[in-house]
Amino acid sequence: MSLFSILLHAPNHLPRAIVAASSLVFLSSFGAFGDPLTSNNGFYPDASDYAGPFVAANLDYPDTLPDARFPAGGALQQPLTVETAQDYMLLLKEYITPSFSTIINEPTSWDPKAAGWYDLVWSGGSNAPTGGREALMNTYTGQIIHATSFGAPHQPTSQYVQNHAVIYYDARAASMLGSVWADLYDADLSALSFPEGSIVIKAEATTPAISQWPSVLDGAATWQVFRPSTLDQATKKANPVPKVVEAHPLQMSIKVKDRVASPVTGWVFMAFVYDAAADGPTVWDRFVPLGAMWGNDPQFNRDPKGLPANARLTETWVNPDKPAFTEDTLGWGGRMAGPMDVATRQGVITARGTHMGDKNLGASSCMSCHGAGEYPFTVNLYPSPNSSFPPNGEPFLLYEPGSVQWAQWFENRPGDTAQSGGRGPVATDYDMAIMFALGATPHVSGKPVRALERFSVH
Ligand code: HEC
Repeated sequence: MSLFSILLHAPNHLPRAIVAASSLVFLSSFGAFGDPLTSNNGFYPDASDYAGPFVAANLDYPDTLPDARFPAGGALQQPLTVETAQDYMLLLKEYITPSFSTIINEPTSWDPKAAGWYDLVWSGGSNAPTGGREALMNTYTGQIIHATSFGAPHQPTSQYVQNHAVIYYDARAASMLGSVWADLYDADLSALSFPEGSIVIKAEATTPAISQWPSVLDGAATWQVFRPSTLDQATKKANPVPKVVEAHPLQMSIKVKDRVASPVTGWVFMAFVYDAAADGPTVWDRFVPLGAMWGNDPQFNRDPKGLPANARLTETWVNPDKPAFTEDTLGWGGRMAGPMDVATRQGVITARGTHMGDKNLGASSCMSCHGAGEYPFTVNLYPSPNSSFPPNGEPFLLYEPGSVQWAQWFENRPGDTAQSGGRGPVATDYDMAIMFALGATPHVSGKPVRALERFSVH
């Protein structure tokens, strides 16, 4: 979780202002201010360590809204149900296969411009090796979780699991990015609404070696990225140096703006995972649907477990044939979340005083977390009264699961309605990366930095 990781690693005691500020620093970093179109963070391996290509970011947004869109030819043309979600996911995978499968099957041939996928402005640069996009695959550095987030017998033998993720917007989504940043230095928030059919993909690769997690990663693809080692980062080594690190694509998180399939929230969130036991000649073929969600099932959001006994979620579909290791990382009450999403948290303390210790608490879901996307950053991405994100395992104060306050993170809102209510912040239409990019924008233009202004009173 890349951009997010700086928030998660920000010291707890820092006031909201500083935590928000550090995410800005992470995105554009001191030295890199002024370059919204930079491809990467400027750290490169020596020729003796790396002989492969360097991906150049595609920031050349279309001027007009392209016609081609999913569902091409009218996929399902009806609101999704748990019965139809799998068909929808398979149609989506078929639709993106010609343009996107290269990044998995032949990563050293990946060229986003040739493939028609777009990067995000204000997100490439940094003067820290953990920041921005690294130069080899253009990944953002991800959050570090403990191997114990996965239940035995599915744990890797490495102590930590980190992900390195690429984020790509399709041409329709990118045309909106072009409107929001028509003036790169003065974002137009009124244009922030994804056109119908927009597709955004986050593909996440994980750091354990295949030999450390064979049941999960056997036969997986390999990306090379230029980052400090996971251990150096986890142990907070001073001035960690980037190295050529191998990471194996494990999850593809995809969201589609589709008001027909999802009339209330407007979005369908889905995850595909690599299944080492699946059939299929290519690695891409062995990515299987993990599940989809198009709402938070708010009718159950006051239940302490998020789902009453004998009840079924109606807005999450989870594949019954999913790989077993993905069971422990589903979200609250079984709502959709993937193995790399950190929807379960350890070290939780609840508002009523329960210490949950090492227990994994399902505390989020794709749409719970993304629904908190607003600019300026205002509400925690998790159901917490505080704004900070402690590293997983350290004390994290959350509301009581099923309480009125907790339930605010499990409502269904359209993407133009900010969770914090109409008191200034603008909803980012369920987009997180845009929230961070907006945070970086005014820092350069000399305009007031709203996030800092707002929070500096703490
Ligand atoms: C606990 C929070 C959280 C959960 C749960 C979560 N995400 Fe995200 N997601 C993020 C953050 C933060 C980013 C911004 C990029 C980053 O830091 O990696 C992001 C980025 C993305 C992106 C790129 C566009 C954007 O909105 O920034 C997609 C697509 C995405 N996530 C899909 C999903 C899907 C699908 C799921 C569930 C299977 C999911 N996410 C679960 C926090 C979350």
